[in-house]
Amino acid sequence: MSQHPKQPWPYPEVVAHRGGGTLAPENTIAGFREGIRYGYRAAECDVKLSADNVCFLLHDDTVDRTSNGKGEAKAKTMAELSMLDAGGWKGAAHAGEALPTLANVAAYCQAQAMLLNIEIKPCPGRFEETGRLVAQEAARLWAGASVPPLLSSFEIDALRAAQAAAPALPRAFLCEAIPANWRDILAELDCVALHCDHVTLTEALARDIKQAGYQLLCYTVNTLERAQTLRGWGVDSVCTDRVDLLAPQRPLA
Ligand code: G3P
Ligand code: CA
Repeated sequence: MSQHPKQPWPYPEVVAHRGGGTLAPENTIAGFREGIRYGYRAAECDVKLSADNVCFLLHDDTVDRTSNGKGEAKAKTMAELSMLDAGGWKGAAHAGEALPTLANVAAYCQAQAMLLNIEIKPCPGRFEETGRLVAQEAARLWAGASVPPLLSSFEIDALRAAQAAAPALPRAFLCEAIPANWRDILAELDCVALHCDHVTLTEALARDIKQAGYQLLCYTVNTLERAQTLRGWGVDSVCTDRVDLLAPQRPLA
């Protein structure tokens, strides 16, 4: 079987989900700080576009759950988003935390030598332009960095646009259940990796993906036992909300 020729991305065994998992406000600098505090060398975050096309961090389509604001994220300018408190929902100790731009996070991660998996998370109806603009911005922000950020997305149209805009940035196809045509998708998008929901993965499928020369990450793995099982199947990395339970210093297998 032919091996995938792309340069691998240096996945650590564990990656902090949404910055620092669930211990701090997700997708904020406070979250990344929490990941760093536990020794994490890599984090994942969700990036979308504001109404004025600034790349910023937010998981949901609306700001309701993770800030003191209300409404569709895609209708707000970055100036409006910057006024929101993205930490208070997680407790008074986090009040006043800002909703960061990708530029804020790039500066923080590079200063901390933290690797970043940018999940391109488009608002409805903005798949292609989000893929294009996030990829262009990531290429600009990490120009000259020794390790580029890894781009991933559930949206094939967004990944295709990212591939066209910044072909040198490594990409991962993100899915819940792995589709039957995963080989075609990974080949077409020239991905280095597949990221899947760990509950849908089988040992046989994990072995097939690894044998085809791709890297493999599972999300969201929140127990040491499950992380060790997946490691035993050949999974390269797990993304976790429990940065306190899965210690980067302790090998999984
Ligand atoms: O990138 C893996 C994982 O973050 C995907 O799920 O909903 O947490 O963005 P979600
Ligand atoms: Ca995500």
